[in-house]
Amino acid sequence: MTANELRQKYLDFFKSKNHAMISSASLIPENDPTVLFTTAGMHPLVPYLLGEKHPAGNRLTNSQKCIRTGDIDEVGDATHHTFFEMMGNWSLGDYFKKDSINFSWEFLTSSEWLNLNKNRLAVSVFQGDEDALYDEEAYKIWQEIFSQNNIPEARIAKLPKKNNWWGPAGTTGPCGPDTEIFYWVGDVDKVPESFNDDNDLWVEIWNNVFMQYNKNAEGVFELLKKPNVDTGLGLERVLAIINGKSDNYQTELFRGLINKIEALSHKKYGESPEVDKAMRITADHIKAATFIIGDDRGITPSNTDQGYVLRRLIRRAIRYGRQLGIEEVLWTKQIAQEAIFIYQNIYSELEKNKNLILETLDKEEEKFSRTLVQGEKEFMKWAITGSESAGLIPGEVAFNLFQSYGYPLEMTIEMAKEYGKEVDVTAFEIEFKKHQDLSRTASAGKFKGGLADASEETTKLHTAAHLLLAALRKVLGDGVTQKGSNITAERLRFDFSYSEKMTAEQIKETEDLVNGAIAADFPVICEELSLEEAKNRGAMGVFDSKYGERVKVYTASKLLADGSPDTNNAFSQEICGGPHVNNTGILGKFKIQKEESSSSGVRRIKAILE
Ligand code: ALA
Repeated sequence: MTANELRQKYLDFFKSKNHAMISSASLIPENDPTVLFTTAGMHPLVPYLLGEKHPAGNRLTNSQKCIRTGDIDEVGDATHHTFFEMMGNWSLGDYFKKDSINFSWEFLTSSEWLNLNKNRLAVSVFQGDEDALYDEEAYKIWQEIFSQNNIPEARIAKLPKKNNWWGPAGTTGPCGPDTEIFYWVGDVDKVPESFNDDNDLWVEIWNNVFMQYNKNAEGVFELLKKPNVDTGLGLERVLAIINGKSDNYQTELFRGLINKIEALSHKKYGESPEVDKAMRITADHIKAATFIIGDDRGITPSNTDQGYVLRRLIRRAIRYGRQLGIEEVLWTKQIAQEAIFIYQNIYSELEKNKNLILETLDKEEEKFSRTLVQGEKEFMKWAITGSESAGLIPGEVAFNLFQSYGYPLEMTIEMAKEYGKEVDVTAFEIEFKKHQDLSRTASAGKFKGGLADASEETTKLHTAAHLLLAALRKVLGDGVTQKGSNITAERLRFDFSYSEKMTAEQIKETEDLVNGAIAADFPVICEELSLEEAKNRGAMGVFDSKYGERVKVYTASKLLADGSPDTNNAFSQEICGGPHVNNTGILGKFKIQKEESSSSGVRRIKAILE
């Protein structure tokens, strides 16, 4: 059965039960600050689940595209995805548990519909706690069905809230106990008598949620006036099961992507668990990125919210692609093209936004690949020559790899192992905590998965601030000194001494000088000098008195033959605590957005890196 046939069958079944078909909503929720993405089919229906009248009636069905990043650590196994399709049916205050369970049973097992082997099925129901009662009604409905079909009663499990409660999708909203349906994917003659939640061979395929509550902002579960049904059947999982595939990546919804990754990496899917995992993550993440960029409310990579999740998905895919040995440049778009091809007839927005998808991937790949190579170089310095730490990669080094190059700690640990070294994880964590105020914890919390957080961007802007000061002094004269700066992940605010408004020409000249220094890709070298030496050399000291006897000087300049910075011709030299990027080339394009008065004799520039 093809994915299109399966989707259609589901919709036809529920149409035959008087459900109105509605289309898939955008992946980006409208007017809902509680979540970044549409994580389930019920999501766009929240107002109706809370009692509002739906124009199409009170029985609805669709197939909804979803993004979930909460399960990201599980992506790489046979059945979890960041992007997936959820087939769903809803009762808005109409039918309840009995019809809902019977519809599911009929669709799954009737020979007219999916005709799954009944003896491979098991279910779970909510066992009850202080918020809500044991779902005896659901248990009894299943008991009757199972006894009629000679299925052992031990295949009905009673489980706690952790397993059998769904919602709300964000922090508040409709929720309730659920009953989940599992399919045994192991040998048909080895189906266990009872259901066991710990066994991965029981794959959850359908969740029927009985939405009786609304969790309000105080965390209280209020009973809804009219209870609803919200269900979700995983398209990718059911497709794999029906076609006898041992994992979702072998279905037509992934095979094209995997084939492409095989061709690019010269490795075979199935050759080892490590290769499988890396191929799955790569395919999954690029497919998810394709849908996020290609959405009608399309998103591009950035350092906030959805754009931040997108950026991390793409970077994580690139990292796994490199692990697989993909050497080609600008390869992610080739995988995206496969995803567009697979879904173009169902999700026409992908075809419509194809150029944007491919260009966005190219741009992000270009940006990250450059830091990956530099990060590798930085790592190798320590892996091969960092002997003073006797087999231990210092926490600061791991942190710098994390912060400046987007290297997750786990990756540094893995790489270190290959060279017989370990990472000083405790020191890394101390370093991490120290810099936490720099990181955008809000965004970080929205994505589990361990890539660099937005402080990578603050580091870049910090280096840009040095280049800006040097450029301002060239354009406006040596009287210019720094008066202060404030850097977030998004922008740089820079105050400097100067008493007149800058002209458009001066602003342009300053930008051009900074962009010239970026284009020159100067190494940024850190040296420890005495304050005296630093001053004699002409380094800018912004807050001289704050530093002790020995200071760090960061120099952006060409190198001399012996590898030291050419201090006589340096673009910028500043006393500074760091951190900074290793090469100016990674900064991107520098742009002054605003030049204004800050206080008497002090001007303020707001600038960004694009
Ligand atoms: N909203 C339910 C789920 O996502 C159906 O599992």
